[in-house]
Amino acid sequence: MYNHRLHQQINAVLQKEQIDIGGADNHFFTRFIANATAIDSLFQEIYGRDDNRDPFFDRLIQQVVQAYIQRSRRLRERDAEKAAKGHWFLSNEITGMSLYVDRFCGSLTELGNRLDYFRKLGVNFLHLMPVFESPEGESDGGYAVADFRKVDKRFGTLEDLLGLQEKMQEENMYLMLDIVLNHTSDQHEWAKKAKQGDPDYQDYFYMYADRQLPDRFDQTMPEIFPESAPGNFTWNEETGKWVMTVFHRYQWDLNYTNPTVFLEMLGNIFFYANLGVDILRIDAPAFIWKQAGTTCQNLPQAHTLLRLIKQCVEVAAPGMALLGEAIVAPKEIMKYFGTGLYTAKECDFAYNATHMALQWDALATGDTRVMLAAQHEIMQKPFGTSWINYTRCHDDIGLGYDDYMIRHAGYDPREHRRFLKDYFSGIYAGSPARGALFSVNPKTNDARISGSLASLCGLEKAIGEQNESAVQLSVARILLMQAHSFFLGGLPVIFYGDEVGYTNDYSYLQDDSKSYDNRWMHRPLIDWEKYRNIDKEGTPEHRVFSATQRLIRIRKKLVAVGDYKNLAWMTPHNIHIAGYLRTFEDQKIYCLFNFRDQPSRLTWFAFREHGAVPDSLYDHWQDKEYEPGQDHEYLLLEPYQFLLLEAR
Ligand code: GLC
Repeated sequence: MYNHRLHQQINAVLQKEQIDIGGADNHFFTRFIANATAIDSLFQEIYGRDDNRDPFFDRLIQQVVQAYIQRSRRLRERDAEKAAKGHWFLSNEITGMSLYVDRFCGSLTELGNRLDYFRKLGVNFLHLMPVFESPEGESDGGYAVADFRKVDKRFGTLEDLLGLQEKMQEENMYLMLDIVLNHTSDQHEWAKKAKQGDPDYQDYFYMYADRQLPDRFDQTMPEIFPESAPGNFTWNEETGKWVMTVFHRYQWDLNYTNPTVFLEMLGNIFFYANLGVDILRIDAPAFIWKQAGTTCQNLPQAHTLLRLIKQCVEVAAPGMALLGEAIVAPKEIMKYFGTGLYTAKECDFAYNATHMALQWDALATGDTRVMLAAQHEIMQKPFGTSWINYTRCHDDIGLGYDDYMIRHAGYDPREHRRFLKDYFSGIYAGSPARGALFSVNPKTNDARISGSLASLCGLEKAIGEQNESAVQLSVARILLMQAHSFFLGGLPVIFYGDEVGYTNDYSYLQDDSKSYDNRWMHRPLIDWEKYRNIDKEGTPEHRVFSATQRLIRIRKKLVAVGDYKNLAWMTPHNIHIAGYLRTFEDQKIYCLFNFRDQPSRLTWFAFREHGAVPDSLYDHWQDKEYEPGQDHEYLLLEPYQFLLLEAR
């Protein structure tokens, strides 16, 4: 749509900055004009069409242009390469790992010295948990940011981060960092100025002199950490005001009704883009817009803000994809990919949190029906967007999928969730899991689950009991869970430690700044002596590491497991076996997973339902050929066995 005023406004800035619109900067110019109307209308949607707001819009345009000007030639080239590849991030060739720099190996420089470890494993994408300055002691694992642009000295310096990023690029690795959009630390300069009474900075946050509004908000806002941080407001002595703190009392929620806050944070987003971030993890986007009388989660304005960010990034730093960390109800997660005109134009990625939790559900029950009942929702993901697939991350496992999904499988939702909580916290008789309940809310009966992949899969207990057959079963469970998420379509991200079967680390209990948050049990402090075992045959570390390595290798070979809307679920002829088919051009891979601790059989008829029955099926996992049998015959899967069968 031609908008004379808007295009004149943009042209004036471009001219002033001597942007070569017909030459070297032509792609940038084209992108800007293509997205200008969207940027304009999204901005107006939030901040109004009021002349007073014009200076803000002007600043927005300036910021986009400046971000482009400051983008290095190397990054611009990388943008162009990514654009030429099409949707670069849908590829089967990327496998990620998420880690705490300090807990993994100490510092950013040291991490740069250890890139051969990732090469050996096959990981070519790193998510570094927050590395920007946060207070010592309590900082919610760095998610209470005190300075968005200063690397915390615990990890090193900004130069170290840039050095690491350069090394990673030389190795063709990708980098993901967080932008903690929803809040700052109470030690951030903005919060400090607000505490000193500066009204401009008090407007950066939600601060109230009395309980009137806080009480109204609290009526409808759920609590995120009901045990360790009940309520959504914290009394601030210095100002005599209540501050909105949805997460912890030291994390102050930013007020995005104030356009200055938006522009400041957009500036930080561009700062990260120009550091060379390939995927930006937008922390807790569901929370960024607040309105009394609502849950203050997933509000339409939060989506508008994300769309605005996306269109601006698309113009200035098109090679940076956005991940919306929305761990919310299944239907709500899907909306972060964009809806209506903005379908596939909001977040490029979302966490496949629904599926992650459902895999755990299937593992505990040995029944895949709840997982299948959710797929009609999950499969709505638009082409061009993708999932972060994972079995574990630094956070807890929420059982936030819908009750109807549980009912559909014939279970009572309340009883079913109670069983899962008992199973994973190890209370349930015979459960091999060693986890713990996190954020128990007696008012709602909700609870989430903490614990490492290995401990939840039984390895901690098995090792403790020196029970070799139990060790074997636990390793089989770990690999089943990983394989299921590696081949599903999306970018698999391994949580550090899980690639060697690290069990829970209880040392957090000795640290006052962590002991109240049991998520730290699955955020291990790595002992590299233990990592040496990855080369010692027979050790659990070796078994898990070498198998994970092989899974990644197989993934890299099979184009069909890239994420091109090329997934079909197989008919559940046997409720214990999950089966999905991945196809790309002539390639057809049947991925089958037995979630049960007993052998399970699948009718060969299942292979008749997606075109002709293949002459033979080659299992990439065992390097073994299968000949499909008659319809009345069965394919046998051992306890927790999985098969990656390519049709031939
Ligand atoms: C995200 C992070 C989580 C943190 C929260 C608040 O959900 O993953 O660890 O506690 O945001 O920043």
